[in-house]
Amino acid sequence: MLNQSRILIKGGKIVNEDCSIISDVYIEDGRIKEVGLNLQIPAGVTVIDATDKLVIPGGIDTHTHMELAFMGTKAVDDFHIGTKAALAGGTTMILDFVIPQRGTSLLEAYDRWRVTADAKVCCDYSLHVAVTWWSDKVKKEMETLAKEKGVNSFKMFMAYKDVFMLQDHELYAAFSQCKEIGAIAQVHAENGDLIAEGAKKMLSLGITGPEGHELCRPEEVEAEATQRAITIAHAVNCPLYVVHVMSKSAAKVVSNARRNGRVVFGEPIAAGLGTDGTHCWHKDWAHAAKFVMGPPLRPDPSTPGYLMDLLANDDLSVTGTDNCTFSVCQKALGKDDFTKIPNGVNGVEDRMSVIWEKGVHSGKMDENRFVAVTSSNAAKIFNFYPQKGKIAKGCDADVVIWDPKATRKISAATHHQAVDYNIFEGMECHGVPVVTISRGKVVYERGQLKTQPGQGRFVPRQPYAEFIYKRVNQREQVGQPSPVIRKPYDGEIIAI
Ligand code: URP
Ligand code: ZN
Ligand code: ZN
Ligand code: ZN
Repeated sequence: MLNQSRILIKGGKIVNEDCSIISDVYIEDGRIKEVGLNLQIPAGVTVIDATDKLVIPGGIDTHTHMELAFMGTKAVDDFHIGTKAALAGGTTMILDFVIPQRGTSLLEAYDRWRVTADAKVCCDYSLHVAVTWWSDKVKKEMETLAKEKGVNSFKMFMAYKDVFMLQDHELYAAFSQCKEIGAIAQVHAENGDLIAEGAKKMLSLGITGPEGHELCRPEEVEAEATQRAITIAHAVNCPLYVVHVMSKSAAKVVSNARRNGRVVFGEPIAAGLGTDGTHCWHKDWAHAAKFVMGPPLRPDPSTPGYLMDLLANDDLSVTGTDNCTFSVCQKALGKDDFTKIPNGVNGVEDRMSVIWEKGVHSGKMDENRFVAVTSSNAAKIFNFYPQKGKIAKGCDADVVIWDPKATRKISAATHHQAVDYNIFEGMECHGVPVVTISRGKVVYERGQLKTQPGQGRFVPRQPYAEFIYKRVNQREQVGQPSPVIRKPYDGEIIAI
């Protein structure tokens, strides 16, 4: 009788972010027990042959919105279907967002999201929390979340005016608190006031279709907010993470800030790396609406390649998907007015393949950088490395056997997500997950999923991630301005 919780992966090439090596991996009770050749293994273990395959850390998707209630409807991929699809695509952990309504408790929203997710997740997960309004209570709750609830990242919106958007003084307060409690501030960087004005203008010009969504918020609207967030974060020595970097202009801002020594990380998403915004000009309304998300996919077709170049060179750091899926009939809420099209696209299932195809197969990055940007960097930034994001003794057994030569064609007809289309429809990708192991169990093998809702676990995260806070704390100590010591002025003063 084979023991399902003891697995030997034989003959594969282990790929970590720093090096690759041919080795066997022995897994027991959810952990990697040994890595090496000629291991002494008990009898009766499940053996998986990985000859000519890569053995990589399971993907970590830094940005999902499973079953989010948003713009009058609810995302169709729930925590069950969404995490099943993730596993089928080689992703073994997601970081989702708690988004409290304005004026409501962050802690209560967190508790509710935990109950919802815990019962349904098929892979491990963790939670970022959004700060959608500001008060002393919010400030206190951020501290409780960081100290007691395993949250070390908070998202602030600079867009969605009158819904989630914070003003600059509120961003200043929220970033200051992130720094105080050892968290990382995340921003949705778009100028919400300009979007509101731009939308009115487009509608007044008779532009009601999906193209109006991008036209009312061109690249500079994203770039300006990105620069503003970086400036505010720097003023309070708070590390910053720019979610969904969608344009060349915003990516350049992040890249320049890193060159100027700022502690800032940029997250492109699968959609932005794998497709572009030209689809929003398609004559078929439904086709165009599928691609509506914020910040928009850009109509400049050189954008995906540019974002991938920056990701390969560490100007951008890590990848998510912003998976927030609405079927066509939900998108149709905005059939006469683009401002009412629910914003969001798919990605959680296809991120790994899209990045392999556009990043590794294209020759822009090697297999090690692929691991860095699909798992290790996320684990470092959000402080659960090397528990995840690494194949080594003692790490969680979230492992994917990856066939770099196999190909697959992405299609809504074959994907595991609930949404009724796929923005990558027809894309041929090299790089296919053959086996996915989550918490030491084979959950996906050659097209077959073997998952149970609730089998994933919440991963709590401690504040003060060393990867970012070593620098931040040192700057705090040595970087304080000091007054010039001088004699008091004792000359004349004019009378007023
Ligand atoms: O279009 C998007 N991005 N929908 C999800 C909400 C967000 O801003 O991340
Ligand atoms: Zn966002
Ligand atoms: Zn199209
Ligand atoms: Zn998002």
